[in-house]
This record gives sequence, C-alpha cells and structure tokens, in this order.
Amino acid sequence: MAMVLAFDVYGTLIDTHGVVAELEQRLAGQDRSDLAPAFSRRWRDKQLEYSFRRGLMGAYADFSLCTREALEFTDRALQTRFSETDKEHLMGVYARLPAFPEASSALDRLAEAGVRCVAFSNGSREAVEGLLEQAGIRERFEMVVSVDEVKRFKPDPAVYAHLRYRLESEPGDTWLISSNSFDVIGARYAGLHAAWIRRVPDAPFDPWGIEPDITVPDLDALADRLG
Ligand code: 2OP
Repeated sequence: MAMVLAFDVYGTLIDTHGVVAELEQRLAGQDRSDLAPAFSRRWRDKQLEYSFRRGLMGAYADFSLCTREALEFTDRALQTRFSETDKEHLMGVYARLPAFPEASSALDRLAEAGVRCVAFSNGSREAVEGLLEQAGIRERFEMVVSVDEVKRFKPDPAVYAHLRYRLESEPGDTWLISSNSFDVIGARYAGLHAAWIRRVPDAPFDPWGIEPDITVPDLDALADRLG
C-alpha cells in the first residue's frame, strides 16, 4: 500500500497570519494596531481551547462556531469593542487566508513523486473546500477529510481512525503532517506516523515522550524527506 500524507490545514497549509493585517486595520480606529499579533494568538489559542473543551464535554459543534465564539471572547477579554460588522469581516478573513508560500511547489513535488496527499482538518468540509480553493491549492489534494464526519475533534483517537477509514490506509502507510504539536501527538498516539512542521525555529515540542517521526521547518523540507 502506498504512503499517504494527511495535511492539517490551519497553520500547516494555510497561514493564519492574514488575520493580523485585518486586525491591525480594524484596531487602527482605536489607535491599538499594536495589539493585533497578541489578539490573533489569543483568538487562535481560545479557538483550540473551545474545541478541546467541547470534545471533553461531548458537546461537538462546527469548528467555525469555536472560531466565532473565541473571537467574541477575545474581543471582551482585550476590551477591543469590535462592532458586529468588524467581527463579520474578521470571520470572513478566516475563510480567505493565503497558503504558505512554499505550499504549491512542495505539493507539486510530492505529486510528481506519486505521493497521495489529502487535507485533514477540524474545519467542516465546506469551510476547508472553500479555503483551499481560494488559496489556489485545492486541486492538489485527492480529498478533504473533516472531523465533522464523526463529530469529534482532534486529537480524539476517533478522528485518526476515521481518517484511515476514509483513506483505506494502514497505520504504517499513513502520515499526519501538522505544525500543531497536539495534532502530531494525537496522530502518533493513534498509531500513525507524523511529521511536525516546525515553522517557528525555536518552538518547543510538548515533553510527553511521544515524538514526531520527522521534524522539518517547512513543506519544501518535507518534500525533500518524503517525496
Ligand atoms: C485543523 O485545521 C485545528 O489547525 C487544525 O484541524
């Protein structure tokens, strides 16, 4: 059975930094543009926290609701007083983020090497299809697998089992590719291989004793290793 690579989306294929530019613009009116990077990090952390809490509670909801409620929380926590229009625009940006610069060339190299590539995300199929389409990389993936199909969130073992079911692949042939350590550990714990895309050079990995099979700085380096 051939190797198959399942790519995480937000932070791995898609650069969520695009949100910072929109935040800077909308915070300029309050003369608080310098808050944009901190706001973006807090928003992302809270979005993921909500998915983890919902998973533990058995209270699954579409990942875009986690994103929207995390935006609301962060607006209140940082007292940025965004209008409903501001928040709708910010959510709109989340649907139209750019791919990382090296994504297209790396995915082309993997395709030329005959490597199967799929997208695998907490995002709903509809959200991910649209996101990859507008980022210009949708056609490089055989399919989009969403955790929404099993109503569980990463790193629940059920989502990695569902991934293998959809790919009809064995654990030894299935690789999770992610910049998110919780996703890498979840996949390894579920018996898959995993590559950590360590986009921030000195970013620490969680000291759980469950390690990625490979660690590379970007998708080009991944293609060097697995292509
Ligand atoms: C994903 O796209 C949450 O970034 C993670 O599944």
